[in-house]
Amino acid sequence: MRPAFLGQAPKQLFIDGKWVQPASGETFETVNPSNGQVIARIAAGGTQDINDAVAAARRAFEGSWSRFTPYERQGVILKLAELIDRDFDELSLLDSMDMGAPLSRLRGPGRKRALGRLRFYAGLATTIIGHTIENSASREMLTYTVREPIGVIGAIIPWNAPLTSALWKIGPALAAGCTVVLKPAEQASLSCLRLAELCMEAGIPAGVVNVVTGLGESAGAALTQHLDVDKIAFTGSHLVGQKIIQASVGNLKRVTLELGGKSPDIVFADADLDKAVPGAAMGVFGNTGQVCCAGTRLFVERSIYDEFIERVANFGNSLVVGDGLDPKTQIGPVVSQEQLDRVLSYIQIGLDEGATTIAGGARLTEEGLSSGYFLPPTIFGNVRDDMRVAREEIFGPVVCAIPFDTIDEVERRANATQFGLGSGVWTRDVTKVHRLAKTIKAGSVWVNCYNVMDPAVPFGGYKLSGYGREGGVEHVDEYLNTKSVWVNYA
Ligand code: NAI
Ligand code: MG
Repeated sequence: MRPAFLGQAPKQLFIDGKWVQPASGETFETVNPSNGQVIARIAAGGTQDINDAVAAARRAFEGSWSRFTPYERQGVILKLAELIDRDFDELSLLDSMDMGAPLSRLRGPGRKRALGRLRFYAGLATTIIGHTIENSASREMLTYTVREPIGVIGAIIPWNAPLTSALWKIGPALAAGCTVVLKPAEQASLSCLRLAELCMEAGIPAGVVNVVTGLGESAGAALTQHLDVDKIAFTGSHLVGQKIIQASVGNLKRVTLELGGKSPDIVFADADLDKAVPGAAMGVFGNTGQVCCAGTRLFVERSIYDEFIERVANFGNSLVVGDGLDPKTQIGPVVSQEQLDRVLSYIQIGLDEGATTIAGGARLTEEGLSSGYFLPPTIFGNVRDDMRVAREEIFGPVVCAIPFDTIDEVERRANATQFGLGSGVWTRDVTKVHRLAKTIKAGSVWVNCYNVMDPAVPFGGYKLSGYGREGGVEHVDEYLNTKSVWVNYA
């Protein structure tokens, strides 16, 4: 099942429409987390390669790409969607091998998400409009605004959904008329490299989409510091987000940040529990918990707490954990040895702080799983709000189950976090729905559902979860400047 893409001459960095060697000549391994085996060696891009890619992106921005009309940009984005659809089996195989997500999940909802996004941005390419403004400065002065692409975009993405994350940056950038240097996560670069080839095949000119693989502290940092990059669009941890803001000061480049969370998912006793059990469980265990908006603080009304958590535990225990490529698998491995160690250390921290495991809690090492990085769905009980496991993003299949008594109490505790990305409310009571939809400080509130996404609906954070919105008609605004033109015709 090895994709053809991996069998050809090793693909390195994609700069100005060509495959090039990294200036350093260095490479690093990418590993399949389902079995610990090395899949391929990836080029370790550095400052020189970033400089080359940014220069190519600048030339394309001012040259070939600037001559594309909105309809022509729409045309190539739609063509790219068509090619991704054609090659989705290969792209999803690359992602599944590289970061462990179940192939079945990638090919079902993942495919719909990826293609939907691109087609949505293709539509937006032709909707970019300015205004004419009546001004009081003079009766004989026409004022109008023009929306211009902001220029060269540095896109830095994580490993938890490589292809869809890349499209969430490239789609709006292309719709707006910007050019891109994409720095994939070092754990999962393969589908982004294949995507670069598809961009060329779609008729997107050389230099418009460049892909520089490499480590965060070298390739990533060089991109964020580059004085000719106009904007960084980042998804990842808040600690790196903070570094990016610091690195942006040299040219005050724009920054949008889609960061992590510690999202509350609140279940009231009057909820439809048959829906809430799987909804809350998959809201945190889906993608092995490696989801920025995972509902990791599960608040359950005390009168149903024991029953509800037992049902979530049973549901979690029934999920098939295994190799991403196995069609039966529902939960794949965590992405890397490093991430496994990190999640296990959080489990130990929770136990040391006095929490108890209601389900899971230890690495899975049985037949077929021992060489991969597998963890079972894990539920912590006896959690206090001040524990680290209740405050910090773990990014694994670990949930804190927390009882509550009143809506006032749960409202306060849900918001007592540095983050504000996702949130969930399960109830049949419309009063509770509207009250919490208003008072929860998070970018998304899901009511009687969790982690539903659509390209037309904005997504993003409050507080340490970052700023800027991805998705929605306003997403393209994040890639545009407004120019005001004053014409004195007196
Ligand atoms: P990370 O935030 O370090 O990496 C994300 C991306 O940023 C990668 O492409 C990486 O190469 C790049 N990067 C790292 N350091 C950089 C720097 N100094 N300058 C520019 N780019 C840099 O995330 P990591 O280390 O993979 O995971 C650590 C934790 O971060 C996770 O356990 C999780 O808590 C959180 N995280 C959150 C994500 C989200 O979707 N909100 C995604 C990935 C991680
Ligand atoms: Mg990998």
